Amino acid sequence: MDSGIELLERDGWARLGRIETPHGPIETPALLPVVHPAPDRQPVSPRWMYEALGIRAVITSAYISWKQPELQARVRAEGFHRLLGFPGAIMTDSGAFQQHVYGQIELTPDASIDFQQAGGSDIATVLDIFTEPTASWEEARAAAETTRERAAAARRRSPGLLAVPVQGGSYPDLRREAARAASELGEIAAIGGVVPWFETYRFAELVPVLAAVRRGLEPPAAVHLFGTGHPMLFAFGALWGVDLFDSSAYAKFARRGDLLLPDGTVPIDSVKEPICFCRLCEETPLPEVAGLPEKERERALARHNLLTSVEEIHRVRRAIREGTLWELVERRAVGHPSLYAALRSIADHAPVFLPVEPVSRRAFREVVPESRRRPAIALFHERLGRRANPVPTARTVELPKVPLIPDVLSALPTETTTGEPIDYRATTPVGPVPLALSEVYPVGPYLSVEEFSSPVAGRVRQAVATAREQLRSVCDLDRDWGPAWDARQRHALLAWNWGETVAEDLERENLTVQRSRRTGRLRTLRVDGSPAFVVGDEGIPRPTWRGAKMLHAATCSPAARVRVEPDAVPFVREGKTLFSRFARAEDSSLRPGSSALLVDEDDQLLAVGRLMLTPHELGRFRRGVAAVITAHARRPEESGAD
Ligand code: GUN
Ligand code: ZN
Repeated sequence: MDSGIELLERDGWARLGRIETPHGPIETPALLPVVHPAPDRQPVSPRWMYEALGIRAVITSAYISWKQPELQARVRAEGFHRLLGFPGAIMTDSGAFQQHVYGQIELTPDASIDFQQAGGSDIATVLDIFTEPTASWEEARAAAETTRERAAAARRRSPGLLAVPVQGGSYPDLRREAARAASELGEIAAIGGVVPWFETYRFAELVPVLAAVRRGLEPPAAVHLFGTGHPMLFAFGALWGVDLFDSSAYAKFARRGDLLLPDGTVPIDSVKEPICFCRLCEETPLPEVAGLPEKERERALARHNLLTSVEEIHRVRRAIREGTLWELVERRAVGHPSLYAALRSIADHAPVFLPVEPVSRRAFREVVPESRRRPAIALFHERLGRRANPVPTARTVELPKVPLIPDVLSALPTETTTGEPIDYRATTPVGPVPLALSEVYPVGPYLSVEEFSSPVAGRVRQAVATAREQLRSVCDLDRDWGPAWDARQRHALLAWNWGETVAEDLERENLTVQRSRRTGRLRTLRVDGSPAFVVGDEGIPRPTWRGAKMLHAATCSPAARVRVEPDAVPFVREGKTLFSRFARAEDSSLRPGSSALLVDEDDQLLAVGRLMLTPHELGRFRRGVAAVITAHARRPEESGAD
């Protein structure tokens, strides 16, 4: 598919994106409230959703609209937008769910698509075969195959945006294949057949299904998750890259007198405290809602439930923007054992997340013991394991995580009087880490519960004194070891990023270490007084123009490189953003947040860019940014040095 979603920000698979529709863009992740096509069956008007809550897309049932002759006539005459009184985007569902619940329906797949189109649906859904989690593999396979055939037929009939359901029951192989087919045939891959798991709170069983779907999805398809009504699931869904949620929960729960909260559900009758002061509660505080006449109570609850859901979507969006989605997911998991079970199960699927795991985030805050199983840590361990040990370890000194500043480092000998190197390992929440790498993400910014559990006074001084005591008989303790540490840390950082041989090559030039005057932390590596690499708070060296030229010379294509197509070369050279459709890369170690060398077809260096996409995604997303330029010939330095 050439259109699809445009990525604006991301945190792993989670993303802020935009889907263009004939009735305006949908900013994702978005909640599409399920709207009943018969106005008297709908507790909250779509117009109010648009005006009061900023909702720009809803979903309605094409099947129910078709089934009732009066509604069908109105859809054919006026279209869905007039029928619902909604100016934003309208997605229509095909009726597979009703077919499943009520048995055979009389609508054919072709007639379903034609009707959705005739009514001016912005996103039409293929009539799929709903598959229960308990279906046999044979049944599930046949249903997925039929769904795929119908999707292919719908694609031929429909020029508009098409949502293709992903079925496959509880079988990873079928789910993966269905996701691949859906990404190929539709602008939106809509994960279906999951409502039974939601209704029974079997979220952990959903995890292997989502992992399998994730493996099959291809950019630029947007991802819809059918039936994720409860706001406590939005963060969890977004983590897997879900862009669109549809919710009937706000209305269903309201009908039975339940109030939705971001972390659970409570019967409105039990709410005796005014726990919310939103503008709805200003009019009717929650404790009074319980006493309203039935219809009014349902309406008030539905509105409040929707407001809570929209708030949670915005909270999720904010978390994606700030790189804190894992923290939000973990906090939500604590709200219900069923979600906690799902969180545990996610950790078993770390490999699914590794390709999109960013180079760094601004912070790493531990929330629950499972925080230590986040992909950021799995990736760090994987890289530590892969790395050749730079120094033969004759002696290893263990010490707590200490700041890598001159005061500390100058007192720690790097070798014995006979020239044997001393290897320092910092004990960190993620395990022992070479001291020189202990400020790299995620270890550097890691805030652990332990750290706040013991008294801090004198901890560093004590650790240094103990280490020195241990080395007293074999080392010269009077020497200033600062310069030796400069060299070791420089080497460790360069090797961590580009490998041992490239690091050695880069170090053939005289790369001097400059530390922050304020904090004492390593900030820049300089050549002839000008910065070649700038190290930010994430502990990762980023090449300036000068550094990029060195790196370019020290590596061979395709290492560290993104190839820019000829049409975009003049723009990139000037420092203009590189767009996905002009970019290609073959170095699989590049990831979101990597600094990459942007080169032309002849491997001429054009600029340095910070990647937003993975090598696999480059070019496949047809819209949007691949990399922002951080340095080029005319703006040689990335900012950040102090
Ligand atoms: N609504 C809830 N689940 C589903 C599903 O699997 N397919 C469709 N088309 N709609 C749904
Ligand atoms: Zn309120």
